[in-house]
Amino acid sequence: MAQCKEIEQLFVKQFGKFPDAVVHAPGRVNIIGDHTDYNDGFVLPAAINFGTNIAIAKREDMLVNVYAHDCEQQSTEFILNQFYFDEVNSWCNYVQGSLQALINEFPLIKGADIVVSGNVPQGAGLSSSASFEIALLKAYAKIYRLSLDGVKAAKLGQIAENEFVGCNCGIMDQLISAMGKSEHAMLLDCRTLAFQDALIPEELSLFIVNSNVKRGLVDSEYNSRREQCEQVAQYFNQNSLRDVSLDELENARENLDDTLYRRAKHVLTENVRTEQALAALNGNNLAKLSELMYASHLSLQQDFEVTTPEIDGLVMSIKNVIGQQGGVRMTGGGFGGCVIAVVPDTLVNELTEVVKTEYKRQFNIEADVYCCHATQGAFR
Ligand code: GLA
Repeated sequence: MAQCKEIEQLFVKQFGKFPDAVVHAPGRVNIIGDHTDYNDGFVLPAAINFGTNIAIAKREDMLVNVYAHDCEQQSTEFILNQFYFDEVNSWCNYVQGSLQALINEFPLIKGADIVVSGNVPQGAGLSSSASFEIALLKAYAKIYRLSLDGVKAAKLGQIAENEFVGCNCGIMDQLISAMGKSEHAMLLDCRTLAFQDALIPEELSLFIVNSNVKRGLVDSEYNSRREQCEQVAQYFNQNSLRDVSLDELENARENLDDTLYRRAKHVLTENVRTEQALAALNGNNLAKLSELMYASHLSLQQDFEVTTPEIDGLVMSIKNVIGQQGGVRMTGGGFGGCVIAVVPDTLVNELTEVVKTEYKRQFNIEADVYCCHATQGAFR
């Protein structure tokens, strides 16, 4: 990823002038609480030291020019207010979707010249798209001096995904990218959007392994999981699963389709685990965190059915090394992507070695390892 100075130079080369602003928004890793956000539940993500940088300058007309250095140096241009879905270059839809959501709130904004550079691996479950949306919104907020706070920006990013891109995601990714705090994870209540920061003890690493596997139909599988959750909420005459208790679900088990029952069971139990994980993190209780993260993984594997054999294999290899000294599970939307382990720094070298050789031996694929720490959100 082009750093500040570099992206400024790229901008000068591209547009023959200096940018008015350079901004950064991070990607994220979710420690626990997956597929709970769109059910008004709890999540515990952290912003990470991978993200998107944007250099931007105002224009007097309505033209938006974007040069995406790390998307094969592609570029796009469009007129603000004449948005269209780009069938070929999907990254353009994040720009259009975000600016459409933004102009609906701030009708006076105009065009911009933009250079984007990012290093969040795409399609790996580390929120490259949310970091892109939040960086863009932050960049626009800066040059047009918009009164846009992080929570509002997160909502606009989510609107871009839901209404323009066509992914019915929740708010987690955008919110942590906007409001994450350095060295902290964030317990977010996705219903009220109230959040609290939880210090990640200094000696722990966010050890992320990319399976480099991405199953097809991810968006449609994701959207169908969401619909299944909504069906169960409707069965109980509620707007979301947040208002359904585990007891109610168990009592209705006989009347529910088994798949729907298991989907809802995952969500309800995951909410409990996520709140408990906050307490475990705050108390530096790694044995408890380990138990909760593994239970989360099994629930996502067996009840929510969003893991793959490769991800399950990675989780087992890591678990065999760390035991109760740390936690490990799949992270993000699933269907491939990454595994997150929260582990003492002292285990990182051994883990890297084991993961790489074991994974290659079992699946004949190279895994990528990212040893991350929690960073600051774009609006914090
Ligand atoms: C994706 C979505 C998020 C969330 C996770 C699963 O990352 O963008 O909103 O639903 O999947 O927890």
